[in-house]
Amino acid sequence: MFNKKISRSFITFSILLFVLTTTADAAGRKATRGYNGAVASSSAIASEVGVQILKDGGNAIDAAVATAFAMAVTHPTAGNIGGGGFLIYHGADGETAAFDFREKAPLAATRDMYLDENGKVINNDIGPIDHFSIKAVGVPGTVAGLELAHERLGSLVWSDLIAPSVKLARQGIPITFKLHDDFNNPRRKGWFGQYPSSEKIFYKANGEPYLPGDLWVQSDLGDTLERIQNNGKEGFYSGKTAELITKFMKENDGLITLEDLQKYDAIERKPIKNSYRNHEIISMPPPSSGGVILSEMLNILEGFELNKIGHNSAEYLHILTESMRRGYADRANYLGDPDFNEDMPITKLLSKKHAQDLRKTIDMTTKSESDPALFAQIYESEETTHFSVVDKEGNMVSLTYTLEFGYGSHIVVEGAGFLLNNEMGDFNEQPGVTNLSGEIGTPPNQIRPEQRMLSSMTPAIVAKEGVPLFATGSPGGKTIINTTMQTILNVIDHGMTIAESIEAPRIHHQWLPDVTTFEKHGISFDTKDKYESLGHKVRTRNSIGSAMAVYRDPETEIISGAADSRAEDGGVAAY
Ligand code: DON
Repeated sequence: MFNKKISRSFITFSILLFVLTTTADAAGRKATRGYNGAVASSSAIASEVGVQILKDGGNAIDAAVATAFAMAVTHPTAGNIGGGGFLIYHGADGETAAFDFREKAPLAATRDMYLDENGKVINNDIGPIDHFSIKAVGVPGTVAGLELAHERLGSLVWSDLIAPSVKLARQGIPITFKLHDDFNNPRRKGWFGQYPSSEKIFYKANGEPYLPGDLWVQSDLGDTLERIQNNGKEGFYSGKTAELITKFMKENDGLITLEDLQKYDAIERKPIKNSYRNHEIISMPPPSSGGVILSEMLNILEGFELNKIGHNSAEYLHILTESMRRGYADRANYLGDPDFNEDMPITKLLSKKHAQDLRKTIDMTTKSESDPALFAQIYESEETTHFSVVDKEGNMVSLTYTLEFGYGSHIVVEGAGFLLNNEMGDFNEQPGVTNLSGEIGTPPNQIRPEQRMLSSMTPAIVAKEGVPLFATGSPGGKTIINTTMQTILNVIDHGMTIAESIEAPRIHHQWLPDVTTFEKHGISFDTKDKYESLGHKVRTRNSIGSAMAVYRDPETEIISGAADSRAEDGGVAAY
């Protein structure tokens, strides 16, 4: 890992030294453009880190690795080394790859581990224990996944890619209003307050809050990142970091052991590939449901002339909703970790014939029923993060990773300075209990030791004739697949620019509960009335997801990066 790369020890990154040849923009309806490369992420500082790596001669994978580690420092709500995620790659030469670094259930996990004698999930003082306890922590995958992607496709020396994040952690970053609001949210304060190891990271030594503009230094995290910088994956899964994790687990009644850490492997899988109106859609296979269901919904929609139906008109929203209902029903019924579910009907779900059969059941004058006797799904909060990268060759990376909730379990490993995920809550924790109120107990995603929990994360790359055109994805729990789909439709069917496509108002339906979510001020009242007259129920929320995308014009070779204005600290760096 360390020898085969070209040494780039002169990497010059410093957040204090803004390089004039970079154009950087916060977020919004206009793209930030360049000729040589771009990174769009939820952290403007991390985007700058990624672009500096590109300037230093790195490729899209190098920049993605550096951006991901930087976000573990600058975007603690979801940027992580204590969680997991997925990376999709599409080279300018046509090569594609999918890296799975989803968390795994610890060896000591059992199917009914969160249930009381009546089969109900146990609650502690702060919430259900599948999300709010140290037992909610899955074996982290991020460090292994980034190392695997780098070994396969990176070009610079590993240690140079981690150097910027070590520096950011040690020198500190300015507290933003968003970070301040997050840390001091009253509920979150209570969750952090459960563990002194967490409190000491997110509040000053005297317990006072960090204020916007204060410098936030994370020394323990800097040390952990340095061990990863020097030893790669072993700097996390062995040695001092592993000792700190396992000691902390033992002392706090957690499940993860040294054996769990040492058995963790990231996996390169075959990406899901699908066609949509002369474009190729490359996305993540199980244990993400994202690629399969995105493709299935697009296949259904391919049979409608969407460009002739007004964008976000009632008729358009009806067609979208009915496609979402059908796609998400299949998600619940069939998908889980492929290493534990050999018989998933992926080929069928991806077939144009299946889409055609489903399309035929769509009634244009009224909504379909969501069968309440079947399965239900719950809403999730929106605290994952996605970023997209393009380099000067036109290679693209689309990466989504998460701690599950914002700040995951809210538990920081004493002495190691990083947050642990609460991803175990993504399993179906009540086997056989599936109902309209949101419990889901279908077999493919029940807890088994070492199984990966089903995810909705949908990093995607759209290509034309084998050449990557744009990369996109979003946070948002189950809304992720729909956000990514609408971004793709906005470009391909409606001719929007990449920035317009991620800014446009969107909707979400996930089969059950049978209700459609609109964004506040997103859809006009008369459209909503007409849509409801087709039988749909609507609820409104502030926003859905926050997409981050890069686009490369195949003719002019101009690169555009777009950061969703829904992400307050987000930004694009391009050059
Ligand atoms: O993997 C998933 O689908 C989820 N754990 C992602 C989580 C998310 O987007 C935010 N919140 N629950």
